[in-house]
Amino acid sequence: MRLVLGIESSCDETAAALVTENRRIVAQRIASQDEAHAPYGGVVPEIAARAHAERLAPLIAATLADAGITLADVDAIAATAGPGLIGGVMVGLVTAKALAMASDKPLIAVNHLEGHALSPRLADATLQFPYLLLLASGGHCQVLLVEGVGSYRRLATTIDDALGEAFDKTAKILGLGYPGGPAVERLAALGDSKKVPLPRPLLGSAEPHFSFAGLKSAVLRAKQAGVHADADIAAAFQQAAIDCVIDRTRRALAGAGEATALVVAGGVAANLAMRAALEGLAGQHGLRFVAPPLPLCTDNAAMIAWAGQERLASGGEFVADALDFAARPRWPLDPAAEPVRGAGAKA
Ligand code: KG4
Ligand code: ZN
Repeated sequence: MRLVLGIESSCDETAAALVTENRRIVAQRIASQDEAHAPYGGVVPEIAARAHAERLAPLIAATLADAGITLADVDAIAATAGPGLIGGVMVGLVTAKALAMASDKPLIAVNHLEGHALSPRLADATLQFPYLLLLASGGHCQVLLVEGVGSYRRLATTIDDALGEAFDKTAKILGLGYPGGPAVERLAALGDSKKVPLPRPLLGSAEPHFSFAGLKSAVLRAKQAGVHADADIAAAFQQAAIDCVIDRTRRALAGAGEATALVVAGGVAANLAMRAALEGLAGQHGLRFVAPPLPLCTDNAAMIAWAGQERLASGGEFVADALDFAARPRWPLDPAAEPVRGAGAKA
């Protein structure tokens, strides 16, 4: 039974996990940095990199100890090599390289987005390629046709903000602190979305792309107007975001011919209202709906270890990554995808 050690350090979670080829998470540890970043209302890269550097080695040792094994029992070491905050990515990748060299095990440099993209297959053994994936996190909002391991076709992306970023900014405007997504979701449950009119950017447009910058500005204006309850603003924001996501994903489905499942992954996939709406959309199109359990949606190392397992198992001869593999601050899953028009377009 192959066992992979996964390491994640691309944003504000320091994480290590051991995952078997038959999807068992043998051990995992996550050290969140929420408290360190909370006073600043967002992730401070320098603080994040230092925290990863301090915590990662003991965290890996503890994860191995939890499983009652040593590095000698591991078959490969998979680490996030990008995209993300470069200081943190380098800490994780350099650590993985050192462990790989010291133990003479293969290094697998994992694209963090691929970790998210394959995480639903860690949770659900029956999920087959190809599937349509909505990947919505703090840095990304994309719809991808996942054709196989290493084969991703981007059908849509955001032309400005990521969806998680919009949740985080709404939280900041409403004074809910950081991290924002879960706080907005909790407050939205107490409000009435119909009491605050908010725009739905790009709704109905022919291209399936996303835009959230205008929605964020409208949230700010609604707050500044001083006449709405915060819970109503949160509820209205969440409903507008969901309406946009459903409309845009429905549009993307038109280009996803062979997909048999609609899948959601990334931090925003932890939002239960969003999951329910996407499940409804999948049902309308006769597609299965798959969403990983909540702890696998936000950043974790189990998905990185699993991406390593998928690489080991994917057809052809497995080739380990070189020990001089450079950390990548940007690393699109679909390198052939054209940049989209719009201010500050993201990969
Ligand atoms: O995937 P992730 O943990 O990190 C990145 O790779 O970016 O995603 C983090 C993002 C944050 O923007 C956070 O606010 C959002 O996911 N998020 C949520 C929820 N939980 C996390 N957004 C909406 N509702 C949630 N329950
Ligand atoms: Zn992530």
